[in-house]
Amino acid sequence: MKYQLSPSILSADFWQLGKQIQEVEQSGCEWLHFDVMDGSFVPSLSFGMPVLKDVRKNTKLFLDVHLMIEKPQRYVKEFFDCGADSITVHVEACENVKPVLQEIRALGCRAGISLNPETAPECLEGLLDQVDMVLIMTVHPGFGGQAYIPEMTEKIRKVRRMIEDCGRSIDLEVDGGINAGTIDTVLEAGANIIVAGSAVFGGDIPQHTQGLLDKIHSYSV
Ligand code: DX5
Ligand code: ZN
Repeated sequence: MKYQLSPSILSADFWQLGKQIQEVEQSGCEWLHFDVMDGSFVPSLSFGMPVLKDVRKNTKLFLDVHLMIEKPQRYVKEFFDCGADSITVHVEACENVKPVLQEIRALGCRAGISLNPETAPECLEGLLDQVDMVLIMTVHPGFGGQAYIPEMTEKIRKVRRMIEDCGRSIDLEVDGGINAGTIDTVLEAGANIIVAGSAVFGGDIPQHTQGLLDKIHSYSV
């Protein structure tokens, strides 16, 4: 199981976006997290295909796209065509999430399923064969810079057990409120892909990135 830091560009300075993504890449990161928000499934609007397309042209990072949008099946192919390496959709945003996951995989893209804090892990029953990653929201989606919800620790443990029981190597990603103070908790609970926005992009990016990567790599030995 590979451990990764997936910095969320939602917290980047968009006037310096390209430069900041280069700093993250030069600091040893391999993934980059795109928090796409539609103002309907979540209260905020963020960015979409034009940003992804230009970032794709200029980086070799693995582009980890998180669709916090209603009816994501409408845009899956477009995001793939713009350069997504992984597309994660919310179970709460789909009438039937299984065909959406199957469409993502049929494109040759990794498929992820995301659960909001109030969504029980049991909703994953019968779906783990369709995914390459489970994303557990550790804040209520919509904004960067929120505090980690401690009740999510037990949920991370439970989903990691479900993944182990299904016998497939599925990544477990966590997103929201992850920083130097909470990263040990989520790694020990079983997360192996760490989304961090404000903990990476607020201040000295290389220093913050290196600090989180050092912590993550200490778990992957
Ligand atoms: C949903 C977003 C945020 C963001 C992470 O609100 O998905 O969780 O990526 O932001 P931080 O790391 O600042 O909590
Ligand atoms: Zn996200």
